[in-house]
Amino acid sequence: MSVIVEEVSKTYGSQFALDKVSFTVDSGTVLGILGPNGAGKSTLLKIIAGYLRPSSGLVKINGIIADPEQLSFKRMIGYLPENNPLYTDLYVREYLRLVAGLYKIPNRNKRMDEIIEMTGLGSEIHKKIGALSKGYRQRVGLAQALVHDPSLLILDEPTSGLDPAQLIEIRQLIRNISTNKTVLFSTHIMQEVEAVCDRVLILNQGKVVALETPDKIKKLSVQQIRKVTVEFSEPVPEMIFETISGILKIEQIAANKYIVYGSTGDLRPELFRLAVKKKYTLLTLYEQESSMENSFLELIK
Ligand SMILES: Nc1ncnc2c1ncn2[C@@H]1O[C@H](COP(=O)(O)OP(=O)(O)O)[C@@H](O)[C@H]1O
Ligand SMILES: [Mg+2]
Repeated sequence: MSVIVEEVSKTYGSQFALDKVSFTVDSGTVLGILGPNGAGKSTLLKIIAGYLRPSSGLVKINGIIADPEQLSFKRMIGYLPENNPLYTDLYVREYLRLVAGLYKIPNRNKRMDEIIEMTGLGSEIHKKIGALSKGYRQRVGLAQALVHDPSLLILDEPTSGLDPAQLIEIRQLIRNISTNKTVLFSTHIMQEVEAVCDRVLILNQGKVVALETPDKIKKLSVQQIRKVTVEFSEPVPEMIFETISGILKIEQIAANKYIVYGSTGDLRPELFRLAVKKKYTLLTLYEQESSMENSFLELIK
């Protein structure tokens, strides 16, 4: 199940919680959404799950514009909200039966046995939810999100507040259940995206900062990002930079002026040699401190 998010914005009053967020998730991918508190992670997940309408923009699921009112749409999605709200007075099995009933699942008892087995709740089903440890409550939250076998699973900070042992178990569980499913989950822990995700979306202040593989993000987080301003006497095509290795991003700021971001040391000698080779006249070539990239580094540490 693929997910396409197109120019989604959400404002609360005058405040932008999401600002033209666009990205695509291929079917079967586990996508981690990484960002500090207030970045807009929960808002984004609520919108994709159909619990909140965007102020503008749209979400497509398997190429079809998502309509949260449609039952067929709800059936495809499993959602574990942040802070995992549960009925603490219900017994585990009682609660799961209630959820299964809402989805009108056939062979309810059989499906519940499967889900209890899958989420490792077997030893706890005789307890009330209120009596469970935080780790087991998260398993109940995962179980309710999975009971109707959705193809898209949306988990909002599923591991927050867990102790290290529970954390490892829940991560493993997410890995196990993610076969044949597209999974979106949010976290503010860098290590988590390495452990669980195929791709990482970094969100900061309502904007997408990066969408990369965990490996690439890890490299970025340990490497110093260098930023060089380069100006020529005449307009030059952006393509000319392609021959230089280690360039992460090119930002054109005028017809003949670029900011070049790299991670493999000083880019200036290479840029100078490139200009000579191509017979361009260099007017400016200097390296500068980058506050944007520094905050990016802070973010993904
Ligand atoms: N219901 C709401 N009313 C007003 N502002 C909100 C509401 N929900 C979230 N916000 C604001 O939107 C921004 C993004 O919040 P949220 O999506 O919860 O971020 P995250 O999950 O990354 O911590 C924050 O500045 C938050 O205060
Ligand atoms: Mg949140």
